[in-house]
Amino acid sequence: MIDSSFIERVRQIVGAAGVLTDAGDIDPYVRDWRGNYIGKTAVVVRPANTEEVAAVVKLCAQTHTPIVPQGGNTGMVGGGVPDTSGDAIVLSLKRMTRIREIDLANNAMTVDAGCILQTIQNAALENDRYFPLSLAAEGSCTIGGNLSTNAGGTAVLRFGNARDLVLGIEAVTPDGRIWNGLKALRKDNTGYDLKHLLMGAEGTLGIITGAVLKLYPKPQRTCTALVAVPSPRASVQLLATIRGAMGDRLTGFELMSRVCVDHVITHFPSTAEPFEQRHDWQVLVELTDTLKDAQLEDALATSLEPAFESGLAEDAVIASSESQASALWGIREHIPEAEKARGKSVKHDISVPISRIAEFIERGDAALNAAFPNAQVICFGHIGDGNLHYNLSFPGATPSVEQTHAANSIVYALLDELGGSISAEHGLGQMKRDEITRHKGEVELDMMRAIKRALDPHGIMNPGKVL
Ligand code: FAD
Ligand code: MLT
Ligand code: ZN
Repeated sequence: MIDSSFIERVRQIVGAAGVLTDAGDIDPYVRDWRGNYIGKTAVVVRPANTEEVAAVVKLCAQTHTPIVPQGGNTGMVGGGVPDTSGDAIVLSLKRMTRIREIDLANNAMTVDAGCILQTIQNAALENDRYFPLSLAAEGSCTIGGNLSTNAGGTAVLRFGNARDLVLGIEAVTPDGRIWNGLKALRKDNTGYDLKHLLMGAEGTLGIITGAVLKLYPKPQRTCTALVAVPSPRASVQLLATIRGAMGDRLTGFELMSRVCVDHVITHFPSTAEPFEQRHDWQVLVELTDTLKDAQLEDALATSLEPAFESGLAEDAVIASSESQASALWGIREHIPEAEKARGKSVKHDISVPISRIAEFIERGDAALNAAFPNAQVICFGHIGDGNLHYNLSFPGATPSVEQTHAANSIVYALLDELGGSISAEHGLGQMKRDEITRHKGEVELDMMRAIKRALDPHGIMNPGKVL
């Protein structure tokens, strides 16, 4: 029970600056970005360092007070906001923003969990290195949230998900102890790899307070292009063509349907229609190279020639300046905001093997258009790693619970048939906690529950999320 004496004990640990109890101050911490959840809490706790996090968790463990860890609160599945009971505290990592160490010879950076992703990206660039995790929320999401959701973003096809970019983590366990796993080793086979247990656990197995991140060579050349293609199937063939020609220089490959471009142009009037003609499908392609004189534009143009001859590509704009490149990326990155501005949609964050993604779109479109003739499929995302945001919007209306469930069932049944995932990068949170039990076998669910019971026997870590 969070009463005034509990809050006083917390205040003693984190100081007045670390405690929010005023309803107005608390409000942004209990609402998720999509506006799907409005939770309740009596107190938002904002520790300044790992020791304070540990002391607060210890107090919560003693009093069996549930904890909702929160970073930038940009999550898409309600994982970072409390339920409406008011029983939990929100523990925000946002005051923990130290970049602890940059070790250039080891290509590693040790950071606090509350560091904003963009701050980390910039710190790497200022040290002639590159931290490749990139997503449209990078200006407000935190690295702790990124690791806890194993975030994806636009560079996964080249660098992997968040968890692939980590050498070690520091965390506070549900009983309030500090686990210092901040090893900066690329090889360390000494027992279970516990960092990979906490990363992707969405705050249900402990609180990530620090991380050792891998750094990469800074790209010296970047080429950004938008290529118009006749269909998703063509985009997958184009992916193979460009990847075959450019190899690991291909660092971004994002599909966008016509509807997405129209929404962005409508809601962000400064966005220009990218081609002379309107096209139903376009792919944003990004190439990078560490060679200063790499002629990426020419190489891309050459690799596109056979694509034009065979009709795989219908048009292409290769950015000739940084501002043109960011304008092209702007179309892609504004899609979620534009979609949100048009009202609620039924959102799916799916993945299937790349070889089956065209089939998924063709069959999904046919089934959804048949079931919901007045709705619009909004299809975009990271097709380069088999991940799509495959949403259904009902122009001028909010999807009903029945429509949402019906659309989910169509999409999820197709995913099961194609060996896909109902959550490629956003996690389960509270939104998909029940759904996942219909898509995972009993063995896997039992193993996950056993781990949860072992590490968090009182169930205080982000209850109601994931499992
Ligand atoms: P929060 O939303 O605060 O929390 C997310 C989850 O992590 C919650 O379950 C929370 O309890 C837990 N958590 C947070 N911090 C910690 C911690 N230190 N220790 C333990 N658990 C913690 N996601 C993608 O993967 N790819 C995208 O391309 C992408 N694009 C996006 C675009 C927009 C415009 C928006 C709004 C979101 C997007 N997201 C994307 C979703 C979101 O940005 C990611 O899930 C991100 O990783 C969440 O980070 P956060 O700091 O906001 O975490
Ligand atoms: C993206 O790729 O833009 C995000 O995952 C956000 C979204 O799904 O809307
Ligand atoms: Zn995404």
